[in-house]
Amino acid sequence: MELWVSWATLMCFTHWIALTAADRTVQVDPPTDIHVSDPGHLGHVYIHWTTPASLKNIPECSVRYQLQFYDTYRGDWTGIRTSRLSYSAQFDLMKPIRVRLRTLLRGKCTNGTEIQSEEVELIQEPDLKGTAGSRITGFNCVYYKWEYMDCTWESGPDQPPHSQLYLYYWHREMGESEECPQYLYSDGVRKGCRFPRQSLLEYSDFNVCVNGSSPANALRPAFFSLQVQMHVKPAVVMSLALTEVSNTTLHLEWTMPEGLVPEHCLEYEVETRGGDEAKWVWRYTNMTEETTFEVPSVDQSERICCRVRSRVHNLCADIGFWSDWSQPECMPDPVSDTNQPSQVTYVLDMKLIMALTIVLIVVFLLSLSLWIFRKMWMNRKDLKGVLWTLVSAKDAQINTPTSSPCVL
Ligand SMILES: *[C@@H]1O[C@H](CO)[C@@H](O)[C@H](O)[C@H]1NC(C)=O
Ligand SMILES: *[C@@H]1O[C@H](CO)[C@@H](O)[C@H](O)[C@H]1NC(C)=O
Ligand SMILES: *[C@@H]1O[C@H](CO)[C@@H](O)[C@H](O)[C@H]1NC(C)=O
Ligand SMILES: *[C@@H]1O[C@H](CO)[C@@H](O)[C@H](O)[C@H]1NC(C)=O
Repeated sequence: MELWVSWATLMCFTHWIALTAADRTVQVDPPTDIHVSDPGHLGHVYIHWTTPASLKNIPECSVRYQLQFYDTYRGDWTGIRTSRLSYSAQFDLMKPIRVRLRTLLRGKCTNGTEIQSEEVELIQEPDLKGTAGSRITGFNCVYYKWEYMDCTWESGPDQPPHSQLYLYYWHREMGESEECPQYLYSDGVRKGCRFPRQSLLEYSDFNVCVNGSSPANALRPAFFSLQVQMHVKPAVVMSLALTEVSNTTLHLEWTMPEGLVPEHCLEYEVETRGGDEAKWVWRYTNMTEETTFEVPSVDQSERICCRVRSRVHNLCADIGFWSDWSQPECMPDPVSDTNQPSQVTYVLDMKLIMALTIVLIVVFLLSLSLWIFRKMWMNRKDLKGVLWTLVSAKDAQINTPTSSPCVL
């Protein structure tokens, strides 16, 4: 309603200006020769125009222009005022480019008031190749740990057979667009692109075009423009430590996830659960910018578990992806850190005892067979005697276990 009223006021005002202008017979023409030039920056184009001939020699008045263009990515009109004769803006090149321009005149020649020309509009239709169904779908980019970005896509429903896809990208620090540094494949088909950090530029338009060729038909190219810092997914938070502060409070501490996300750009979500282990639910969800958290109102009989995940804070990016959840850290923990070393030692001891026993048994059996062999050699003729000796030797072994058979 308010908007409508102010719009109406503006219309009246414009009408009044127009009348005043008519009274003073100052003729304001709209800009001429409006055109769009595309330097091949995948959607970053330049809009040019020229001053109307009637306003070229008016020294006591300043000429400015009001430019409006339809932002194909936001789906809305955007406007600026400038005294220049060109402006660069970002467009989806598969959609019509729509630009509206007016001349604004102000100064002595208009008695201090601003006079606007009529509006002129330019609509430039895109040069469409291929069918709509040959265009890729599901384009999605994730900037892992602020270290590398993976952009993936799916083939269009109508993609011609034996197509080869290409990805090109551009940002303002590049002279020309370049092809994908490392394609990602699925079943031998290009399904994505990996950008190392050096190829990216944060806080700037990052333009991407996925086009393709096939022996049969042309493929419809797809254009995207993104801000890479809005696609960050931090690594999993590691090394959680839960300690008891008082009988009702626990202190949770963790370290920053690995990766290149600046420390001040991270925020964390802590989830806490407790109570009946059979029907555990994450009960509390708290946000923090610190890497510590006080877990409140702990019932001492309960087992408490916490887990943490992180994302980029809205100081650094409007949106971002949550990291995966950390492993939960619990208290009291049956296999706590203090118990673990002693358990390890115990396991080691058991292994050592078993190994020693086996070695002893082997040595004993070896010595025994050697001794029998020697006896057999000495009393080859009397087999019965050997067997008898063996039995008595066994008896002797049982009776005097400390004596070594090798000495005999
Ligand atoms: C400018 O407008 C004012 C009042 O609207 C008028 O008094 C004055 O004479 C005008 N000056 C010129 C140069 O037209
Ligand atoms: C894909 O786009 C790039 C960059 O604009 C261009 O150089 C290339 O020729 C295009 N390829 C096809 C097959 O259209
Ligand atoms: C917790 O400690 C306070 C004193 O530090 C004591 O008064 C209270 O009874 C304790 N609560 C439990 C549940 O042990
Ligand atoms: C955590 O969140 C719970 C509710 O979800 C709230 O009652 C509690 O005060 C929060 N704790 C902190 C430390 O912010």
